[in-house]
Amino acid sequence: MLRKVLYPGSFDPPTLGHLDIIERASRLGERLVVGIGINSEKSGWFSVEERLEMLRACTAHLPNVEIAAFEGLLIHFAQQKGCSVMVRGMRAVTDFDYEFRIAMANRTLAPEIETVFLLARDEYSFLASSIVREVARLGGDVTAFVPPAVAESIARRTV
Ligand code: PNS
Repeated sequence: MLRKVLYPGSFDPPTLGHLDIIERASRLGERLVVGIGINSEKSGWFSVEERLEMLRACTAHLPNVEIAAFEGLLIHFAQQKGCSVMVRGMRAVTDFDYEFRIAMANRTLAPEIETVFLLARDEYSFLASSIVREVARLGGDVTAFVPPAVAESIARRTV
């Protein structure tokens, strides 16, 4: 059976921690869909189109990865894409409560879809898009936090 895996998130912007999870999740199935969740009540730092472009650029070396955006419920998107597994990254115990509640809600709604957690690598255990946004806004160097294509997009928008 062809196993399709979904890695959902906001990716605003994608970080090296996200890319590490994408690379590892791409080995868990034949195909990995990276799904950008669109929150219509919140305007992002980067537009959805920019996030699609950044994720495509930094996953160009991964032939079984596709990038897509979705609105509405995550499980509906997973079902529509034929994904039987959803991957989320877990950095520290502080992530657990939020992830637990979402995973339980998703499992109640769609018991056939399994949520799997990948532990972040040590060096990315503090890293979050919100930290990248703050460092960038205050004029700091983000190159240790994001893939080169994302650093370029950030440099373009903050000049
Ligand atoms: O990277 P994030 O911000 O933690 O990603 C959150 C995301 C996009 C995965 C989450 O907000 C989401 O699943 N949104 C879609 C709505 C939904 O299905 N929520 C879960 C059921 S309560």
